[in-house]
Amino acid sequence: MKKRKILVAGGGGFIGGHLAKRLLEDPQNDVRVVDIKPMSEWYFVHDSSENRVGDLSDMGIADSACDGVDDVYNLAADMGGMGFIENNKALCMLTVLINTNLLVASRIHHVKRYFFASSACVYNADKQRDPNVTALKEEDAYPAMPEDGYGWEKLFSERMCRHFREDFGLCTRVARFHNVYGPHGTWEGGREKAPAAMCRKVIAAKTSGELSIEIWGDGKQTRSFMYIDDCINGICRIMDSEIVDPINLGSDELVTINQLAEIVEKIAGIQLEKKYNLSAPKGVNGRNSDNTRIQRSLGWAPSIPLAEGMGKTYDWILKEYRTKYLLPLHA
Ligand code: NAD
Ligand code: GDD
Repeated sequence: MKKRKILVAGGGGFIGGHLAKRLLEDPQNDVRVVDIKPMSEWYFVHDSSENRVGDLSDMGIADSACDGVDDVYNLAADMGGMGFIENNKALCMLTVLINTNLLVASRIHHVKRYFFASSACVYNADKQRDPNVTALKEEDAYPAMPEDGYGWEKLFSERMCRHFREDFGLCTRVARFHNVYGPHGTWEGGREKAPAAMCRKVIAAKTSGELSIEIWGDGKQTRSFMYIDDCINGICRIMDSEIVDPINLGSDELVTINQLAEIVEKIAGIQLEKKYNLSAPKGVNGRNSDNTRIQRSLGWAPSIPLAEGMGKTYDWILKEYRTKYLLPLHA
């Protein structure tokens, strides 16, 4: 039987790396990974995939990446947590070139299925003003008032997928990820999101004997966080489904950022004073995923408890931290 040729765009990154790993478990899949970063910086380099370094915002690279491919998973983006997206709006918006080129190339090469990783940042800001937020339903993206920069790019790219499907018959799938965390993701350097940042800060405090950590904002803002295994399961299920409209892929376990910090403190067996930085990037006051549609369509929704996922994430970041700062691995 002919193997299914799959492109994982952005597969040197966090979600793309985990996705390529999952796809490679099926011997019928022949996986090509493309990422702009040097391979030494990829979270996973799989021996059994074809691995290429290239800039997918270049049409020639996107074209050759899609050559001979059945399925495209577009996970490539110049993005990060609030610290990055609030200060790099032009870079975030330039990511539009990646999705545009990949859609055009997919059409040229008769790609069978195309997955786009969108974001909860597409949702209307007015629906996210209260920390005691009503969970976001898919229709809350319109009228459009998304996160400036990054959210506008995602909303535009979602629509490009829709029009390529309607006008050119390309089979597209779009998932709106809510904050994803887990091992093998960014935990320092400015692009990290709150779950990884909390782990790093608590580890740094514990290691140095500091008695406090800095929290951006007042700690009362709320989010839901999805563990990477739920994210990968959701991507595969959505790709295999008949769901054509953008759909939430996120946890609905709502916590304050203070509660997130306390979960990490408990894992680390330490209690720290919280120092609030009210001028740091904060984003919306509250955001949660309404999972009615995914539950109804797939009979499934993300369910891994935050405390469980954070335990695994903390252990991985602790190992990375000790390796990077040359600390004993089992101290
Ligand atoms: P990531 O930064 O770890 O991975 C993205 C990868 O894309 C990186 O490895 C990066 O080098 C690569 N890339 C950037 N520009 C490129 C280019 N021009 N050509 C080729 N590769 C390029 O991020 P992630 O967390 O794995 O996110 C994957 C996707 O999911 C992104 O589209 C992101 O916007 C979306 N998303 C993620 C989250 C989250 O919480 N992680 C939430 C919502 C949406
Ligand atoms: N990054 C970070 N680092 N955030 C912190 C920190 C810290 O040290 N301390 C507190 N926070 C707060 C932020 O101020 C924000 O209010 C909240 O934790 C969550 O921040 P992030 O995890 O950085 O991002 P987000 O949830 O606002 O947005 C993320 O999720 C979207 C999908 O739901 C981003 O990653 C977006 O790119 C993504 O699309």
